[in-house]
Amino acid sequence: MSVGPVWKGREMDVGIIGGTGPAGRALAVRLASCGPSVVVGSRDAARGEEIAAELRAAWPGRDLALSGTDNAGAARCGIVVLATPYEAAAETALDLADALEGRVVVSMVNAIGRVGRELQAIVPARGSVAATLQSVLPGSEVSAAFQHLPARDLAALDRPLDADVLVCADSERAASETAALVEAVPGLRAVNAGSLASAGPVEALTAVLVNVNIRYRSHVALKLTGLRSHGS
Ligand SMILES: NC(=O)c1ccc[n+]([C@@H]2O[C@H](COP(=O)([O-])OP(=O)(O)OC[C@H]3O[C@@H](n4cnc5c(N)ncnc54)[C@H](OP(=O)(O)O)[C@@H]3O)[C@@H](O)[C@H]2O)c1
Repeated sequence: MSVGPVWKGREMDVGIIGGTGPAGRALAVRLASCGPSVVVGSRDAARGEEIAAELRAAWPGRDLALSGTDNAGAARCGIVVLATPYEAAAETALDLADALEGRVVVSMVNAIGRVGRELQAIVPARGSVAATLQSVLPGSEVSAAFQHLPARDLAALDRPLDADVLVCADSERAASETAALVEAVPGLRAVNAGSLASAGPVEALTAVLVNVNIRYRSHVALKLTGLRSHGS
């Protein structure tokens, strides 16, 4: 599933709703450094533009196709990533349902709460954030991906990535477009982890990985061993 050139051939831009936070920013700059044009979305178009400008300025030697606008503008891109906090995800998606119609919507959202010093997974309605989003976006095809990648590593363009990204989706199109997006980034391998029924445990695993990072002062990434071949 080596699809970087295919991705470029599709000439599809990527919109990131809630793209001004650490996760959205990091994904935006990493993707833009690998070919796709990326639009950073915000509730405030000026903030989206400001963050896009900051990211371009942070990497002056790179020709980053990175712009910013409001979330509705990001939602009209060829493929759209949702990167808001868990609490805001469903309402935000619902507000943008018309703009998102017909598109693949990739949820990188995790439902996590803090209990004392420990992070714990929250079980959202329908078992996962991604399944909740699919329920409020009947005209879109939702996938789940990118939950486990620490923003700090994703944003460090001077350091290569080496990680697997689990992709869950109910439709073949959502799975394959999401896998293509993942593999537009060198060092990331998309692994088809099944339908949105599997998105819950995938999202919940993030809390476990963050706790490992806190305990070991590390930045772990997910890497599966023994995978002989993979496909969508
Ligand atoms: N941080 C990571 O390392 C990481 C890695 C993988 C996945 N994730 C997941 O990615 C998501 C975003 O993480 P983050 O750390 O970037 O979150 P964040 O900074 O808390 O939020 C991201 C953006 O969402 C928008 N937002 C905040 N509250 C909102 C609301 N009530 N309604 C609508 N939009 C709102 C804000 O953008 P505007 O104010 O510009 O609208 C904000 O910059 C989370 O679900 C997280 O679990 C995070």
